[in-house]
Amino acid sequence: MPALNDAFDATTTTDDVMRGVSLAGQTALVTGASSGLGVETSRALAAAGAHVVMSARDAQKLDKARAEVVAQVPQAALDTLLMDLADTDSVRAAAGQALQDYPTIHLLINNAGVMACPLMRTAQGFELQFGTNHLGHFLFTCLLAPALLAGAPARIVNLSSAGHKFADVNFDDPNYRQRDYEKWQAYGESKTANALFTVGIDKRLKDSGVRAYAVHPGVIMTELSRHMDHADFETLSSRTPAGQELVFKSVEQGAATSVWAATAVELAEQGAIYLENCQIAQPAVQEGNSGVESYALDAAAAEQLWALSEQLVGQSFSF
Ligand SMILES: NC(=O)c1ccc[n+]([C@@H]2O[C@H](COP(=O)([O-])OP(=O)(O)OC[C@H]3O[C@@H](n4cnc5c(N)ncnc54)[C@H](OP(=O)(O)O)[C@@H]3O)[C@@H](O)[C@H]2O)c1
Repeated sequence: MPALNDAFDATTTTDDVMRGVSLAGQTALVTGASSGLGVETSRALAAAGAHVVMSARDAQKLDKARAEVVAQVPQAALDTLLMDLADTDSVRAAAGQALQDYPTIHLLINNAGVMACPLMRTAQGFELQFGTNHLGHFLFTCLLAPALLAGAPARIVNLSSAGHKFADVNFDDPNYRQRDYEKWQAYGESKTANALFTVGIDKRLKDSGVRAYAVHPGVIMTELSRHMDHADFETLSSRTPAGQELVFKSVEQGAATSVWAATAVELAEQGAIYLENCQIAQPAVQEGNSGVESYALDAAAAEQLWALSEQLVGQSFSF
């Protein structure tokens, strides 16, 4: 296996990662492509020659994002796919359309997300963060598996977060039916679920040439903070270890680890791993924002989450 690229770090940008990479002939689907990291991820993949399907739930916003990418990459091959991840009916309809229009998919970037919202519920009654960030992507990815298998070698990139450190998945009450809601805990649970889903899907698809990666992009000012108030920013800063400052990345730096996960040759034989700063993350240490908690990559918990997710979406998958 080639060594990891020592030159890449927290300052690496999408263009640094994609220099010399050609994605001609590849189809990539990016969720949450109407804002923030999803737009930049789409731009970088399209600039490398991929046919990019930009997915989001708001048609107007998605068209605007598509126009932004075209302005920067006039030759971009772009399609759009409307999908509300907070409604399994919408996810099933979008997946059905995608399978019909794109029978071969090489890269699936599960990037959409919602963070620290007040207690809200999806169309099917799931807590909004767990329902959108995890269950919507779980269902979408499993339904798209035939296209990913047709595209093998193919990759799935799941946007997790250092926020996974806030909480492990609560298997007894994943949807906050019996306990008081806490918005950061719920975000943490959903982001741990993103990492555990990476482990579960990689296990099932790796022998067929589809590998999965979890990504922490860094801390980037995007619309993700739309539900945050001043006190939330103070809380986040106070969780930063003494002597360290909360370092913000640009959007180009933030999306770099996603496109690295999607394209790095040195990752081809690996999967079920958590990446940050265009490197494989180290195990978390007690203090600090970096590294991955062992519970987020735990194989038994990944199986437990798989079974729970199948039960909640009402469908079993065998690939
Ligand atoms: N920014 C950071 O500092 C940071 C740090 C760690 C992890 N992350 C992760 O990175 C990913 C991208 O975040 P971002 O910073 O780019 O945030 P963003 O600018 O808020 O973008 C989030 C995207 O997800 C979409 N989305 C939200 N709910 C959806 C739903 N129900 N159905 C379909 N799409 C939906 C949004 O569409 P609408 O605009 O229509 O809502 C938007 O396109 C997220 O998974 C986030 O958890 C970000």
